Amino acid sequence: MSEKWLTTKVVENRHWTDTLFSLRVEGAQLAFQAGQFVRIALDIDGQRVARAFSFVNPPQDPTLEFYGVIVPEGPLSPRLAKLRAGEPLYVAGSPAGFLVLREVPDVETLWLISTGTGLAPFLSILRTDTPWKRFRNVVVVHAVRHANELAYRDMIQGTKAHYVSFVSRESAPGSLAGRIPAAIADGRLEKAAGQALSPETSHVMLCGNPQMLKDVQTVLTARGMRKHRRRTPGHITVESFW
Ligand SMILES: Cc1cc2nc3c(=O)[nH]c(=O)nc-3n(C[C@H](O)[C@H](O)[C@H](O)COP(=O)(O)OP(=O)(O)OC[C@H]3O[C@@H](n4cnc5c(N)ncnc54)[C@H](O)[C@@H]3O)c2cc1C
Ligand SMILES: NC(=O)c1ccc[n+]([C@@H]2O[C@H](COP(=O)([O-])OP(=O)(O)OC[C@H]3O[C@@H](n4cnc5c(N)ncnc54)[C@H](OP(=O)(O)O)[C@@H]3O)[C@@H](O)[C@H]2O)c1
Repeated sequence: MSEKWLTTKVVENRHWTDTLFSLRVEGAQLAFQAGQFVRIALDIDGQRVARAFSFVNPPQDPTLEFYGVIVPEGPLSPRLAKLRAGEPLYVAGSPAGFLVLREVPDVETLWLISTGTGLAPFLSILRTDTPWKRFRNVVVVHAVRHANELAYRDMIQGTKAHYVSFVSRESAPGSLAGRIPAAIADGRLEKAAGQALSPETSHVMLCGNPQMLKDVQTVLTARGMRKHRRRTPGHITVESFW
């Protein structure tokens, strides 16, 4: 069955750095849950080239927002970064994905852990009422290479979430150094968040670099946590971006 495409119009393309951008588009009414993604597309050399992008906006906001990085050799992302207000962007009519709070059991502390643009689905979740009603603590962890890539920091700091950032390739005051898995293993992440990360108290949602997802799951498994499945409830929900 061929995909149904909606034509939206770009209203803003904000550039955070040379490689990071946020696209806001109008003209598509989509029903989705915070944390889900949708395929977006452009016509390139006569072909419709589509990729999955997570919604940054919450479901109640009619302006759709996507947060992207330029992968220089990639076919779509460099072109998305160049879009200007008024230009069209195709959006599929079928949002999907399981990185949603409806799939998460009731716990004391919700950990939203991401690298790079993997932050996107958590921004949508943070902009809904649900996390604040359901969890005593919400911790947002965002790891980037350089401090200027800590996009949406002000927005996150304006919520009740505990925000912990990592900057891995330069020293940055206010951010942890190194990588997330090492900081879980040696206790630095829990200390920075002021919360315990344990199977008794926590559920962890992970999104971004697939190697980070694996490495974090390895250290969480050593703490007695396991992947969450509907039939065998656990503590970890994962979405890989590539
Ligand atoms: C469920 C899902 C949700 C996604 N949501 C987003 C999103 O919200 N924002 C976003 O920027 N991307 C997201 N992606 C990735 C996105 O679909 C594209 O792969 C990305 O925009 C690059 O597209 P491309 O055509 O330029 O290169 P591609 O041919 O798609 O990718 C080339 C290579 O680039 C690297 N890469 C791809 N995506 C990323 C990324 N986000 N960060 C770092 N390296 C990457 C990988 O090594 C990949 O093999 C998502 C992917 C999936 C599966
Ligand atoms: N960010 C840039 O400066 C930049 C510039 C131009 C193009 N790009 C393109 O964007 C792509 C991705 O860049 P990105 O910076 O958004 O994403 P990324 O490479 O996934 O890095 C984001 C963060 O994740 C960390 N990380 C990587 N592997 C990890 C693992 N196994 N466990 C835990 N943490 C891990 C990185 O730490 P480390 O630093 O230790 O790897 C970094 O802090 C590149 O492949 C490139 O094509 C990026």
